[in-house]
Amino acid sequence: MGHVATPSTDRRAALSLFSRLRTAEGQQDPFPIYAELRSRGGVVPAPWGGLLVTDFDLCDRILRSANWLEPDARWREKQGPRTRWSAPSAREISRTLPALNPPEHTRVRRAAGSFDRGTIQQIGQTVEQIVEQLLGSFSDQLREGEADFAALVGEQLPIATIGDWLGLPRADWARLRELTHDQVFTQELLPNASQLARSDIAMAELRSYFIELVRERRRHLREDPVSRWITTWDAMEPDQDKADEAVYFLALFVLLAALETTATLLSTMTLQLVDHPDHWNLIAGRPDLIPAFVEETLRFDPPSHVISRVAAADCTLEGLDVGADDMVHLMIGAAHRDPAKHADPDRFDPHRKAAHLAFSGGIHYCLGAPLARLEAQTLLRQLVHRLPQLTLVRRPAMAPRVAFRRLLNLDLALA
Ligand code: HEM
Repeated sequence: MGHVATPSTDRRAALSLFSRLRTAEGQQDPFPIYAELRSRGGVVPAPWGGLLVTDFDLCDRILRSANWLEPDARWREKQGPRTRWSAPSAREISRTLPALNPPEHTRVRRAAGSFDRGTIQQIGQTVEQIVEQLLGSFSDQLREGEADFAALVGEQLPIATIGDWLGLPRADWARLRELTHDQVFTQELLPNASQLARSDIAMAELRSYFIELVRERRRHLREDPVSRWITTWDAMEPDQDKADEAVYFLALFVLLAALETTATLLSTMTLQLVDHPDHWNLIAGRPDLIPAFVEETLRFDPPSHVISRVAAADCTLEGLDVGADDMVHLMIGAAHRDPAKHADPDRFDPHRKAAHLAFSGGIHYCLGAPLARLEAQTLLRQLVHRLPQLTLVRRPAMAPRVAFRRLLNLDLALA
């Protein structure tokens, strides 16, 4: 892959940056590494082929352009049988919404529906109650000493919200969370063989779970999203097995998309709050700044730092030749700190009007963005009103990855 000719020193430098990024230490603070990458240019060749983009406006343009596609099933097939793209988990993901291109993407996205204002209002009441309960248990734990916010709140709110919405039994929530953590490796930037194997195992269990769920809902259709998707697909697709398969892929991906990303947003946001006591006071006194605080968190440290696309045809990008099917990695974690886009980008500023690509852009713009925002804003509002100021007990440990950020703990105590 790749027609890009580069001096081998450039590749070696980029390789060393990425080996640092893939460690827990690199994930503690990837931003100096991104700054080094950006200093080599807004577009640089990736050591493994293709290009890395750190220029914000260019990332934005690529996401909105029809000349750049998702690496779909056809593309993955072309990469050959012994690549990461041929792993069973990668093939399964290639059938879900974010791996489809038009016209199939248009059809499947339309059938998925959206979180309109009415739906969000309805879910909002449930989210208020869930946050109340979670913060209640978290406070109880704090009275005993320190408490892990990531485990007790950050990880719980997304599964309780989406689990309730999809009508998944509460007894299954913990297992689904675990499976999602394993499954994510197939969507990582550079998964190794053992990570892919974990992903494959998790994906097989998720498949059985959701296939059975769709079968059960078809037997007893009710007022829930999975039943609605069955009715929608039955009207579009005469073959019932194909309709059920389409509903399975949608339910599966909605769960996968909703859990880790939102959990990371909730914990990162809370980390910003406890790291800066002035932020806590500011938000407690100015609840009107809550939406902006959430958006600034999404800019400052988005849950996913990389989005990838492939070229639809031969082209050039900032003077570099790109062949059809070559891949570009949009390093959005780095692009969000592009000084050409944001003044003083390394400063967390809740007053900023934070343009960001955390939810992607163009036709694949995150379907669940209103839900993620609802959860984060509700949590932030209740947190500063119900709890006294909290302090960080120790720096959180980070999962050693590149694309999907994950705080393994967020240990807090009363100030
Ligand atoms: C903070 C939380 C979240 C973040 C940062 C996030 C991020 C993203 C990103 C970056 C994409 C696009 C990937 C691409 O362009 O290739 C995406 C797509 C998607 N997200 Fe989210 N997401 C979040 C929460 C959610 C939630 C809560 C749901 C569901 C309820 C959800 C459902 C989806 C779906 C279905 C897509 C595929 C859209 C398409 O390809 O047309 N996401 N998300």
